[in-house]
Amino acid sequence: MENTKRTVTCGELRKSDVGKKVVLNGWVSRTRDLGGLLFIRLRDRYGITQVMVGDSASDDVKKIAASLKSEYCIAVEGVVNARSDKDINADMATGEIEVEASDIQIFTTSQELPFSIEEVRQKDGTLVVANEDLRLKYRYLDLRREPMQHNIILRSQVAFATREYLTGKGFLEIETPTFIKSTPEGARDYLVPSRVHPGKFYSLPQSPQLYKQLLMVSGFDKYFQIARCYRDEDARGDRQPEFTQIDMEMSFTNREEVLSTTEGMMQYIFKKTLNYDLPAKFDRIAWEDAFDWYGSDKPDLRFDMKMQDAAFMADLADFNAFKAGAANAGRDVQRHKRSGIKALVVKNVADKYSRKNIEALEEVAKTYKAKGLAWMKVNAEGAFEGGISKFYAGKEAEICAKLGAEKNDLILFVSDENWQLACTALGAVRKQLGKDLNLYNPNDEFHFAWIIDFPYFAWNEEENHWETEHHMFTLPQKQYWDTLESDPGAVKGDLYDLVLNGYELASGSMRINDPALQERIFEIVGYSRERAEKAFGFLVQAFKFGAPPHGGIAPGLDRLVMLMCHEESIHEVIAFPKNNLAASPMDSCPSPVDEQQLKDLHITCYDVEKDD
Ligand code: AMO
Repeated sequence: MENTKRTVTCGELRKSDVGKKVVLNGWVSRTRDLGGLLFIRLRDRYGITQVMVGDSASDDVKKIAASLKSEYCIAVEGVVNARSDKDINADMATGEIEVEASDIQIFTTSQELPFSIEEVRQKDGTLVVANEDLRLKYRYLDLRREPMQHNIILRSQVAFATREYLTGKGFLEIETPTFIKSTPEGARDYLVPSRVHPGKFYSLPQSPQLYKQLLMVSGFDKYFQIARCYRDEDARGDRQPEFTQIDMEMSFTNREEVLSTTEGMMQYIFKKTLNYDLPAKFDRIAWEDAFDWYGSDKPDLRFDMKMQDAAFMADLADFNAFKAGAANAGRDVQRHKRSGIKALVVKNVADKYSRKNIEALEEVAKTYKAKGLAWMKVNAEGAFEGGISKFYAGKEAEICAKLGAEKNDLILFVSDENWQLACTALGAVRKQLGKDLNLYNPNDEFHFAWIIDFPYFAWNEEENHWETEHHMFTLPQKQYWDTLESDPGAVKGDLYDLVLNGYELASGSMRINDPALQERIFEIVGYSRERAEKAFGFLVQAFKFGAPPHGGIAPGLDRLVMLMCHEESIHEVIAFPKNNLAASPMDSCPSPVDEQQLKDLHITCYDVEKDD
């Protein structure tokens, strides 16, 4: 072959190209030898093209073709032929044609693969995927798989759409440093030792929070950055030690503008990349209602099934478990004046749900510290059956009317003296039922909502002090400014979370720009003047030079793309993620370093490999 450089990709040939002479480059996805006729499926990121090596090919070409194995990287020269209508390869966009090879050149061969790149499905249709550590060890191969190619390509498109939207709205993309002084976002910092300053450390940013606020002081009134963030916390499906935020901040703004800018950005991203129309406005739910109705500050709203207050149940019978929930309602530190008896009516499943099914739900509730899951069924006659029904015989009409229960419904209860605990536990049961019964509305693929009016402070039970629910630079709502010190538990913050399908997608807030108010917050959370000065003195100092009112938000890019791809782990949308032990099996990171490197950094390791 004179020139092996591709003239077309493996995804673009159509019937209109028949007769053209082309060169394709790609990987051998599969070969099929029909004796005399050999078919090669050639793959690149654009698609798959079928190559045919027929009778007319030279012996040399036939020989090369016969030697090809999966994942050999090759060039093929040939002519585009039409396939007959009955032979169209319907699984490929290029299915109407094939390329009859006149020459083949092998760029490189491939060893036996650790797992198949092709989709392999079990008989029941589920995809066979290698275990995660093997996938991560050979991530470059894993990324050749079609679902991964799809996810990574979508991620790139989402990042591009984000930049397009925000730039179009006058935002400036400004980088902030990755070697910084520690930012207090609640997790542990990753530290980078300084060679030049013995015994001193940079930390990797948990987010660019302080820097974006400083940029507001500098007058860059609309900032964004697709920012890498680093947090040393336990990994989970939706958490990575290093992840990416669409970090935004605005000056001379208010909550409405931040929310509507974010809504506009999400609408733009979904339309541009998925051709999906999001509603113009997202629902807004107060934090207390989110817990009261869904038991979570990140509710999955693709199905409704709200929890209900069942305080009245305590008065209807002498059922002990409900007494605590009613009597102690509202006594917890956050002073929620709501009862701790929560009910969930599950429609039309009484005949389907066995005791065993209900026990499985009880286990879910217990994981969230509920003492138990009380239940009863409304049978075909409208009477209560099973569980705690004996306490409520004769009260069917009243209870069913209050809870909106009907024949064949299952009613579940969690009662606890702690309102939030009861809500959380029954909310987890609600979420499980959503999955088990597939209650999701098929026309509501992406359900966004804002959670607003969060409590500003949360009481740290273990350490006995107040801490901020979001970060310390969040503005408390104005009506509480006079009572911050006297009644911290009642204070609500000017902060908001964006949730999508049961995940927290973004957090943000209006910020404090008054140094005096900032110092009051430090004081309440127990940061002494010296400690605050040492940690954030530079920010407080900056605010003394005319800090504008400002606010912002930071959607997690990984979580956004994960949900857009209908994946359950952000690992599936990050090219090179860490595993759940924050390690990379591919390059064995983290790894020991040379003694000399440590010396240069003035570091001695102790407590390492104690068992050896
Ligand atoms: P917050 O800490 O809530 O807010 O983070 C904002 C969003 O970032 C994503 N996120 C993560 N994604 C993957 N792995 C992680 N370990 C991880 N941690 C957080 C989530 C989350 O909603 N500076 C503030 C924002 C602001 O006030 O503007 C902040 O970082 O999607």
